[in-house]
Parts: sequence; structure tokens; C-alpha cells
Amino acid sequence: MKTDVLIIGSGIAGLFSALKISEFADVIIVTKKEKAESNTNYAQGGIASVISQHDSFEKHIEDTLIAGAGLCRRESVEIMVKEGPDRIKDLIAIGTEFTKRDGDFDLAREGGHSMPRILHSKDFTGKEIERALIEAVAQRKNILVLENYVAIDLLTEHNLTNKNGIKLENQNCWGAYLLNSLDNQVIKITAKATLLATGGLGQVYLHTTNPKIATGDGFAMAYRAGVKLGNMEFIQFHPTALYGSSNLAEFDSRSFLISEAVRGFGGILRTKDGEEFMHKYDNRRELAPRDIVARAIDTELKKSGDEFVYLDITHKSPEEIFDHFPNIYQTCLRLGIDITKSMIPVVPAAHYTCGGIVVDSDAKTSLNGLYACGEVSMTGVHGANRLASNSLLEAVVFAHRASKNIKEFLLQYNTSIPDFPEWDDSGTLTYDEKVLITHTIKEVKHTMWDYVGIVRSNERLYRAQRRISMLFEENEKLYKKTKIFQSILEGRNLIACAHVIIKSARLRKESRGLHFNIDYPEPDAEYLKDCIIKNLNF
Ligand code: FAD
Ligand code: SIN
Repeated sequence: MKTDVLIIGSGIAGLFSALKISEFADVIIVTKKEKAESNTNYAQGGIASVISQHDSFEKHIEDTLIAGAGLCRRESVEIMVKEGPDRIKDLIAIGTEFTKRDGDFDLAREGGHSMPRILHSKDFTGKEIERALIEAVAQRKNILVLENYVAIDLLTEHNLTNKNGIKLENQNCWGAYLLNSLDNQVIKITAKATLLATGGLGQVYLHTTNPKIATGDGFAMAYRAGVKLGNMEFIQFHPTALYGSSNLAEFDSRSFLISEAVRGFGGILRTKDGEEFMHKYDNRRELAPRDIVARAIDTELKKSGDEFVYLDITHKSPEEIFDHFPNIYQTCLRLGIDITKSMIPVVPAAHYTCGGIVVDSDAKTSLNGLYACGEVSMTGVHGANRLASNSLLEAVVFAHRASKNIKEFLLQYNTSIPDFPEWDDSGTLTYDEKVLITHTIKEVKHTMWDYVGIVRSNERLYRAQRRISMLFEENEKLYKKTKIFQSILEGRNLIACAHVIIKSARLRKESRGLHFNIDYPEPDAEYLKDCIIKNLNF
């Protein structure tokens, strides 16, 4: 298949870019499962933007920079904040309904924000945005959406050889090889421009708020293609995931989130004995940035030996709770917790990847023709810690900028796309022991949770690196002799992501934002720079 622009991923970044690009070019969107299945679909709290006349761009910029602990790219933050309101108008124009009160948008407050500035649709904002985008995309005749296609690797010079049989160095990207997960056939789609919008990698950890699709495929494909990745050590742990939910079948390997908006609404964190504790850690208490709240909970749990702390919202009126948090209220009630009467048991869980594929302010990567948007990208807006509800905003602002740059790129396009070989799996065997892949994935998740979590040390990181290297070797051997299937691809990508996170964490010999290493407990000016990784060998 051929198209002008191939978009990999159908979350907010992929769908929003597709809408913009379809105004001047043909688009194919490929997505791993059904269109709606994405991190976007589970977003609760909302999307931050300067809407109120009492708010200002300067305040939002300042809050973002403070949360980012010295590592944000100021230019990118300014772009995101100042272009944000226009992109919110775009979302409203395609039919997204944000909650209003007395005729005005109901702006919520979350950790690290000095003002209420979070637009939301009750507590299922992501679902509402995804609905509106999917409906808008369906109206465009020049967007083809292919579900159940898993991108395997990018089409680059690496897949070609010159006349002398020598592999060429990667400089361009022309599409991807993809696995149809329903019949296990591999196809290739060539494109003048390719946009990675594959989201995060939460599934590399044992407990995560991310759904099963979040196996870091985009980071891994880019890494294998020699594209630069940056700041991958900054993994955000959300302080309040519902304790025990990741083991329940209905959540299918993810932990159910209790939105930060609950703390913004007055929710109080308490130990199992009912004691408040956030005042001991930060004078912003429950509304301190996430890294601080997650570490405070981790410290309390280590001190007490308990398995969870409580989030208490019982002092609010039941009517207000139903009204603001219908999704959280109903889900907890189904599990036997009436949050109007009982405190909610919560624990931190891996939530968001602040680093990613290094892009410029037009979402261009280091490979010609390859763009990246949304969680998979590193635009520089999050630095060492993302401010709540800036992720959806970043996705739409930089998707819009990517589309403008792609328009110029296509206008100037004057080369022909090389003739790529079909996927060659001759000599490989059908693999009957898929259970071994399941075990490998479990080992990766346990290793990352135990050794590369909220609190790290040199010894833990070293252990993790050795274990991941061993899993890499075993998995690569298997990958080369086996006909591919979805979980072997995902296992391979999770291992690559784990490797890059650990490598970056070992390079940062300080503690900053989300990266806390007990052997270097303070920030160190010498490391006040991005940690860039490119195609390192294991
Ligand atoms: P996603 O929405 O994750 O979409 C990725 C897409 O890529 C999916 O369609 C997936 O199937 C596809 N894909 C992945 N790999 C492949 C492959 N190999 N081949 C083909 N397709 C592939 N942020 C906020 O700003 N506000 C919030 O309130 C908020 N709440 C959140 C709540 C939860 C529970 C979670 C998990 C995250 C939350 N976030 C929030 C973060 C935010 O939702 C995500 O960062 C954002 O939605 C990412 O959008 P995306 O388009 O980059 O990726
Ligand atoms: C939440 O609702 O707590 C998630 C917000 C975010 O990740 O930005």
C-alpha cells in the first residue's frame, strides 16, 4: 500500500494530526487494536489551557517550568501554552463537549497549577475527546483507518542494500512494515512522510495506569532506526491508582486511576491509621507536583509496611461527588467502595513517559520524513516532570505544528520512494511456546518495578541492566528464528524500552524531578542537561 502520510496510532496525537493533514494530503492511520483503544481514551482529569480571564500565559508557563525541575525547553513551553487556546477551539469545533457550570467552562485545579485551568468532560475527558475525533475522522474521505495492524519497524535505508550488498546508513523514513494481528500476515505501507503517534510505555512496569497497547513500540522502532531518544529516565508515577485494581480481569492489566482532580477538589491523603501526612513533605500538600506526592506515599508505605494509603473525599457532599466524578464513583461502587462514605485505597503506578523521541518545535525527528507527536515524542515541554493535564495539550499543539511542516515537506518532495523488499520470513518456524514470551514480559515488568521505580539506587539499576541484557539476548535469538506474532514484537519493544530507561537513569548521576537515586540524592548543576541516547548496543 502507498499513501502521502502514514500515521501510526489513533490516540489524540494521531487522530488530530490526521484531521489537519487530510486538508491537503491522503492519510492512512494504522492502529494496533480498535481505533478508540489508547491512553487518550482513559484520560480523566482534563486538558490544561489558559481560558479564564483571571489566568495568564505567564502563570501557566511558570507552573510548567517549575514542575519540569530545570529541564524544560522554554521555547516549547511557550509554544504549547500560547497556541493552546486555539487548539482547544479546534477540539470544540469538531464537537468535543467540555463540562460547563452556569454557562462557563468548569475549570478544575490539579497538582502544580497555581490556577484552576483544567477543561474537562466530567471525569472521562479522554473518552469524549476520542469520540469527537473518531467521528470527525470518519467524515474525511481521504483518511483510511486500518485497525489491528501493529507496526513492526520503520522503512529506512537499513532495509535496503546498495549494488555491492552493503547496508546504507539511515537518513530517511518511508513508511513501515506492519503485522496484521488477526491473520499474522506482514504488509508494508510506503509513505512520503510517517508520523509516530504510538503513545507511552507504561506496560514496561508491573503496575501502570496505561492500557495493554502501551508497550512503547514507537520508542523502540525509533531506537532501532537510530533516531535520537531523550530523557527516558523520567517516568512519571501517578500517586493515586486504585489499590489492587490491576489484578482484576475487567481492567485487563492496567490499574484504575483515581484522578488528581479528586485531590484538586479537596481529597486528602491519609495513612492506614487515618493520619494526614502531606504537610510533612511540601507546603502545597496534596497539590504538590506528582513526583513529590508519589515519593511521599512511597516513603510512608516503606515506613509503615502497609500496602496502600487512603484518599479521603468523604467530607464532600455526595451530590457534588456524583456530579464531578461519575466514572470514579460508579467504578469504585461496583468494586464495593462507596467513596461518599469510605476512603479509597490508593498506590502509585507508572503513568507517563516524559522523555521520548527528540523532536524540534515542528515535531520533526532526526530522520528525514519521520515525525513524532504526543506521548512518544520529547518536545521539551515536560522536562524532568510533567505538569498535570499538559499531555493532551502538548499532543494537539504539536500535532498541528507537525501538519503545517508536513505540508511544506510534501510541496518540496521531489524524490522517489525506493522499492522496499517484501517481509522475508523464509527459514523461520511457527513458534508453539508462546508462554515463554509471556514469562519474558513478566520478568521485564517485575525487574522494572523492583529496581527502576520511584526510588532508585546504583545497585538496583545495575541489577536491572544485567537482567534486561539477558532477556534481550534470549528474545533476539527467538525473534530471528520465529514467524512473528504480536506478543513477540511487544516483548522485544518492552525490552528495548527498559534498556533505554535504565541506560539513561545510570547516566544521570543526580536526583531531579521524577528521577530519584539515593546514591545522589540532590540535583547537580553538572547534569542540568538532556540525556540523549542513540542506538546504543546492549
Ligand atoms: P495514545 O492515546 O496512547 O495512542 C497511541 C496509539 O498508538 C493507540 O491507538 C495505539 O493502539 C497505537 N499504537 C501503539 N503502538 C502501535 C503499533 N506498534 N502499531 C500500530 N499502532 C500502535 N493527560 C492529560 O493531559 N490529562 C489527563 O487527564 C490525563 N489522564 C490520564 C489518565 C490515564 C489513565 C492515562 C493512562 C493517561 C492520562 N493522561 C492524561 C496522559 C494522556 O492521556 C496521554 O499521554 C495521551 O493521551 C497520549 O496520547 P497519544 O495520542 O500520544 O497516545
Ligand atoms: C489525572 O486525571 O489525574 C491524570 C491527569 C494527567 O495525567 O495529566
